Amino acid sequence: MKFPLHLDLTGRRVLVVGAGALAVRRVQALLAAGAVVDVVAPEVSDELPDVPVQRRAFVPDDVAGAWLVLACTGVVDDVIAEVCEQCGIWCSRGDDAARSAAWVPAVTRLDDVVVSVSTADPRRSLAVRDAIALALQTGELPLRRRRPGQGSVALVGGGPGDPGLLTVRGRQLLAGADVVVRDRLAPLVDLPAEVELIDVGKTPGGPSYDQRAIEQLLVDRARAGQRVVRLKGGDVHLFGRGMEEVAACVEAGVPVEVVPGVSSAFAVPAYAGIPVTARGVTQSVSVVSAHVPPGDPGSTVDWDALARLGGTIVLLMAVGRLERVCAALVGAGRDAKTPVAVVQDGTLPTQRVVVTTLADAAADAADVASPAVVVIGDVVGLR
Ligand SMILES: C[S@@+](CC[C@H](N)C(=O)[O-])C[C@H]1O[C@@H](n2cnc3c(N)ncnc32)[C@H](O)[C@@H]1O
Repeated sequence: MKFPLHLDLTGRRVLVVGAGALAVRRVQALLAAGAVVDVVAPEVSDELPDVPVQRRAFVPDDVAGAWLVLACTGVVDDVIAEVCEQCGIWCSRGDDAARSAAWVPAVTRLDDVVVSVSTADPRRSLAVRDAIALALQTGELPLRRRRPGQGSVALVGGGPGDPGLLTVRGRQLLAGADVVVRDRLAPLVDLPAEVELIDVGKTPGGPSYDQRAIEQLLVDRARAGQRVVRLKGGDVHLFGRGMEEVAACVEAGVPVEVVPGVSSAFAVPAYAGIPVTARGVTQSVSVVSAHVPPGDPGSTVDWDALARLGGTIVLLMAVGRLERVCAALVGAGRDAKTPVAVVQDGTLPTQRVVVTTLADAAADAADVASPAVVVIGDVVGLR
């Protein structure tokens, strides 16, 4: 049975014997821990950090004054271990963990959490360590650190719907949230029971929040000392009104962080098998909101220029407005036979794709419901 122990090596002398790849990793870790490192080795790797090196073979006197010795020679580790044993100094052998008096564990750190893993098989230790590191980073292992009174807001882009497209940073913040303020198109994520979920998406029959009310909610909760995650669909900013929420927090003096998300503009075509650009097919992609259609006095999009540009066009919020958009593009010279894909519920199990042309899109996609992304251009043919 081993006795796990974390050592404070700050300012303490550690001897590393050997200067190959293992020794380099050990020296880097020791320096990061504040140890005073001496190296003894006849040959030295170029990668070795800048530490005092005796370029010669190990002699027993080398261990004098060391708190810890790491034998990384692969040749005379047993000799070094024996000298340490006689002097009462802990020695970790790189060549044979089973015959070592001390073990360097596989380590992962996140914030102030240090996890050390030790098993009989070093490769297994690394695999277990990596699994724990991933679970910590993604929030699967909750890492709730209470800092009472420190409210904050994190605007997290949740991706287009598939929870697998939520970023690692987004998951970390969700794992530490007190309250999650969720949009209708944000992914449905599992949250611990104690986390409050407020759905501010406009669902038929449900309470409705206008933009200012959402901003006030974020500020009020943060001022009450809560860690608020504002979970939005796709990316935070792309047609997402993220800036208004950032501004509200800044104005209120509330700490705010922005975590970009995977946007539906690119992820939804990709899940439908359409690369939005492809070498030899197009060198440009334009992402356009169609919520104000062509011909509307409020439209600021130059649809004629867009038609002339010729590359791929990705339309968001175009459901119900396809007829006017397609007519405007064809009217401005884009070929009526240009391929079009309309992707509803992209990345979700209910995803549906209608492939058509500019001439027929309005009729062929008449029953497509929101949310949908429309891709216009020859890249659709690569599907
Ligand atoms: C208000 S915009 C927000 C876009 C978001 N910020 C983003 O980066 O994806 C909403 C539009 O995004 C598109 N959208 C979002 N999620 C989608 C999905 N899963 N499938 C298809 N379209 C989606 C639709 O065009 C929808 O009308």
